[in-house]
Amino acid sequence: MDGGSFAETTLRANADDFGRYRFRQKVLANVGDRSLETTILGLPSSMPLVIAPTALSGIMVPGGVGEIEAARAAKKAAIPYTLGVLSLASLEEVRDAIKVPFWLQTKPLRDRGFMRSLFDRALAAGCPALVVTVDGQVLSQHYRGVRNGFGNPRAVRLDNFHEFACRPGWSLASVMRGTRLRLGNLQGGGVPKGFWEAMGWVSGQLDPAMEWRDLAWFRDNWPGKLVIKGVLDPQDAQEAVAIGADAISVSNHGGNQLDGAPSTIAALPKIVEAVKGRIEVFLDGGVRSGQDVVKALALGARACLIGRAHLYGLAAQGEKGVSAILEMLRREIDVTMALTGVRTIKDISPDILWRPD
Ligand SMILES: Cc1cc2nc3c(=O)[nH]c(=O)nc-3n(C[C@H](O)[C@H](O)[C@H](O)COP(=O)(O)O)c2cc1C
Repeated sequence: MDGGSFAETTLRANADDFGRYRFRQKVLANVGDRSLETTILGLPSSMPLVIAPTALSGIMVPGGVGEIEAARAAKKAAIPYTLGVLSLASLEEVRDAIKVPFWLQTKPLRDRGFMRSLFDRALAAGCPALVVTVDGQVLSQHYRGVRNGFGNPRAVRLDNFHEFACRPGWSLASVMRGTRLRLGNLQGGGVPKGFWEAMGWVSGQLDPAMEWRDLAWFRDNWPGKLVIKGVLDPQDAQEAVAIGADAISVSNHGGNQLDGAPSTIAALPKIVEAVKGRIEVFLDGGVRSGQDVVKALALGARACLIGRAHLYGLAAQGEKGVSAILEMLRREIDVTMALTGVRTIKDISPDILWRPD
């Protein structure tokens, strides 16, 4: 959860580069009546935040119910939840648990029959949006993962026992409730049974030969809103507009893919310029505070997706932890709006950023 690819420079830059921007303080600006409400992909949201897809986040809560608990917190906060296709809970289980629409994310897989059946299930579950992640067709290198022996078979090291001992409540609950590793959305079809076998199948499904024009198939076969996640370059943003996407998420996979790539907040302005308001632009990467959200919106983002910020809450306290994080972010967005002199989300513009003469 914590780590990123290679030397983790992009992971750090994602969070650090928000600090490069300063706000323009405005006082006595009649900000008594403020609202964080907005629309995302045409649907109402109580604030400009979306929970980002995070594979296997089910395991972060004892019993393997992490996705369901995070989705419940998103429902309570009235913001969209994105279920990653590589979740423990199936999309039907999430639908039954929250009974409100949520988004589904997938990478483009080779097996188009499987993709089509996934789309049918997502439609039946009422998902209004499909997020297609395009920056993960080749899996990156994670030094931290190699060092920690993350993989199959998993290595349990001596210092893990120290960590377990420091968190007795969490460790006990994990043992008592257990967590069966499974991939709830990857059942049937050509997918092999067994968790690691199914993970292997997914790796084989990633096609590095894919091109932009291949995404047209997704546009043609998914009738709902289509979000392309993983765009970090203005030219690629133009391609996404051309294939008929409804939105892009400016993203470097949270610093998990191309280390050395720019932070998302640094890449955002040129992408917004290239898109020219034709589709919605989201940002994900490094958002740790409501102030980061306001900065991203000032630079043209419609909303931010949060990965780690929600996972930290989820791993600590399940649904309650995610709710606490979301309400903290809500307060921080609100107070930052007040102190920069804006009352509504649509009033957030580049004007609220300080420009030295
Ligand atoms: C543990 C973990 C798992 C992730 N799994 C996925 C995934 O399955 N699909 C995807 O598109 N992005 C995935 N991401 C990336 C997030 O969707 C998002 O782009 C990233 O976390 C944003 O950066 P942040 O964590 O700094 O908010 C994952 C990120 C983390 C930390």
